[in-house]
Amino acid sequence: MRWNGIIEAYRRFLPVNAKTPVVTLNEGNTPLIFSPRLSEMVGKEASVYLKFEGLNPTGSFKDRGMTVAISRAVEKGAKAVICASTGNTSASAAAYAARAGITCAVLLPKGKIARGKLAQALICGAQVIALRGNFDEALRLVREIGESYPVVIVNSINPDRIEGQKTAAFEVMDVLGDAPDFHFLPVGNAGNITAYWKGYREWKEAGISKKLPRMMGFQAAGAAPVYYDKIVRSPDTLATAIRIGNPASWKKAQMAIAQSNGCVDIISDAEILAAQKWLACNEGIFVEPASAASIAGILKCLGKRACKQCPLADEMRASLLPRPVKIVCTVTGHGLKDPDVVNLQGLKTVTVWPTVDRVIRAMGL
Ligand code: F0G
Repeated sequence: MRWNGIIEAYRRFLPVNAKTPVVTLNEGNTPLIFSPRLSEMVGKEASVYLKFEGLNPTGSFKDRGMTVAISRAVEKGAKAVICASTGNTSASAAAYAARAGITCAVLLPKGKIARGKLAQALICGAQVIALRGNFDEALRLVREIGESYPVVIVNSINPDRIEGQKTAAFEVMDVLGDAPDFHFLPVGNAGNITAYWKGYREWKEAGISKKLPRMMGFQAAGAAPVYYDKIVRSPDTLATAIRIGNPASWKKAQMAIAQSNGCVDIISDAEILAAQKWLACNEGIFVEPASAASIAGILKCLGKRACKQCPLADEMRASLLPRPVKIVCTVTGHGLKDPDVVNLQGLKTVTVWPTVDRVIRAMGL
């Protein structure tokens, strides 16, 4: 069957009507990839799946929310949209605005955006404004501009974004037949964890699904306001996508974690890099550093350094996990967006003269 994007697939759960002009790049329908190695690590009768959101049209989950936000903006007659971004939202907004034929301005923290994301926003013709400040300051400016000028904000403070992003939970349930037992996610501006929880709840309330997952959120240790329950003035992490100190959906994320009996925890930059490399080397999936946060999270839960409040770790120790147990980790963005990370990983090519002998030696045979 032809896939025409998330609005067509889940129209009756979204804030659109027959007159809404659908601006789509056929986003969504991303694969839920079984991870044999993570499943084995969790234990007998465990299935761990990776929702690979890097396979959306602009390479991140943002496209789900953006198709709804831009379609609705066009419906309202908007001629321009604006967003603050750590990179992926700007790439997505630029692409969907280009498709709609409207103007797009993006405010980015200068020097803290992965190279691929910057290229995406520029090539799609967005007005790219590098701010001498961080994401939180950029979002504050965007809110002010949105109040006084005729532009539609397409950050996740726009509820249409959350509505679109909740369709990832629908897709997970469509494939698994019900919600998983645990859902692991990176947390930055906290919109995505809010959106998944909304999606899971809506289908449970509609009687389409039976279970609700425990929402497991992971923040970079240097940018962990939800974990510390405190604004972080100068957030810092090499996972630039989640370098956020004052998330917009903070309260809603806390609610999702509390209501689902889940948890929020931190992982270090070293753990993020290790998880990124582990996933690429063991499952062949290259994700950007922020996306590796969910993998670092599950590895932490399974390891010796599991946090005290982690239900997965506790229940594994006490053999209380439901059997069979189903776990989903969302990997939010494609690794190709941030190619410079190979330097941080300390990875290098080997250069040799063009002889069989030299190549064989370089191969270590
Ligand atoms: N992973 C990636 C790859 C992201 O780009 C983001 C957020 C997150 C995770 C966190 O999701 O904000 O919903 O909690 N990126 C935003 C942006 C902030 O501007 O692209 P969240």
